[in-house]
Amino acid sequence: MSFSVAEVRKDFPIFERTIRDGKRLVYLDSGATAQKPWAVINAESDFYSKHNAAVHRGAHQLAEEATDAYEGARAIVAAFIGAHENEVIFTKSATESINLVAYAMGNAEAGNRFALTSADSIVVTEMEHHANLIPWQQLAKRTGAQLSWFKVTQDSRLDLSNIEQIITPKTKVVAVTHQSNVLGTINPLEAIVKRAHEVGAVVVLDACQSVPHMSVDVAALGVDFLAFSGHKAIGPTGVGVLWGKAQLLDELPPFLTGGSMIETVTMTSATWAPVPQKFEAGVPNMAQAVGLGAAFQYLSALGMDQIRAHEISLTDYALKKMLTIPGIRIVGPQTNESRGATISFTVKDIHPHDIGQYVDSQGIALRTGHHCAWPLAKCMNVPATTRASFYLYNDEHDVDALVEAITGAQEYFGRF
Ligand code: ALA
Repeated sequence: MSFSVAEVRKDFPIFERTIRDGKRLVYLDSGATAQKPWAVINAESDFYSKHNAAVHRGAHQLAEEATDAYEGARAIVAAFIGAHENEVIFTKSATESINLVAYAMGNAEAGNRFALTSADSIVVTEMEHHANLIPWQQLAKRTGAQLSWFKVTQDSRLDLSNIEQIITPKTKVVAVTHQSNVLGTINPLEAIVKRAHEVGAVVVLDACQSVPHMSVDVAALGVDFLAFSGHKAIGPTGVGVLWGKAQLLDELPPFLTGGSMIETVTMTSATWAPVPQKFEAGVPNMAQAVGLGAAFQYLSALGMDQIRAHEISLTDYALKKMLTIPGIRIVGPQTNESRGATISFTVKDIHPHDIGQYVDSQGIALRTGHHCAWPLAKCMNVPATTRASFYLYNDEHDVDALVEAITGAQEYFGRF
């Protein structure tokens, strides 16, 4: 690891505060949202205080500066994921990015490659976040297409043993997560992409839990669309990204219509501006996009490979320590192979919410529940889990504090 967590923490003002009566803040909920460094807070604030104007519209200096800042952010995002600038669309969230693709496919007319009928199928997996499940359920309902899915094995991996029966020549779209927000599992995309492309289907990747944590190169992944949110990548809330291959974005009909996404308009018809404007109707989330650009500059300066290496070593440490706690069950891969720094767990005879509440009393922020992946919880036979998700500002002290707090919860609730 070539960066110092202690130095990184100084860049994040939230770590200056204490929590629950003077305790050190141990933030282990970055899977839900990451904390923000000054660089991001200042970039957003500077946009509003110095350059605020509606982009792509005004004929004045501020509008020019705002447009440059917004398009500059697009260039940073594109470079961060190895994409072309005109393939990067700003949305308000990853959820909106995925809905954009699903609704736009639903808008496709007969003859368009994205048009779906009851003769087609949509493939998802049992480990999807609701954001990459429900839009596809709804699209299947609207079009009559069949919804199929890969199951999850008890060792927390996708069961691809029947890949040829799940992804068939009827399949038009395969929607899959890169890294599970519950299990931490990193999925074997190569086999999925290969099979999807063999049958002419497109692959939509939910990269919310991967883009913030590892180098992601869209060309190397070979997927067709990729979605992620800014706020999990130390960027602002209210900004997400949809990346798509240029030719596919050209063929995809728009989702939201209105100002800025048009080429010509009459009283009865309109034609569309080129991508990405075709998918950015209305005055966009300019300050947030600029903040996301600053976030990616910050992450790039540290190095995504260094961040990944840090998380691998921290996960290794955490798994080993947590597995020594009597009665603990890690709901996810037990080893560090093909997994990220998200560790969900249950503790025998103590409800996950009680664990969450107790560790909160010790200054530790975790998430409890089904983590917006209810079918996955059912498949893993748990009503809920407690989840610790680590990031660049966490270190072994945080793991130690967590382990101590879980043991404390066991004593408090009278177990073991
Ligand atoms: N999707 C986010 C999570 O997993 C909110 O917590």
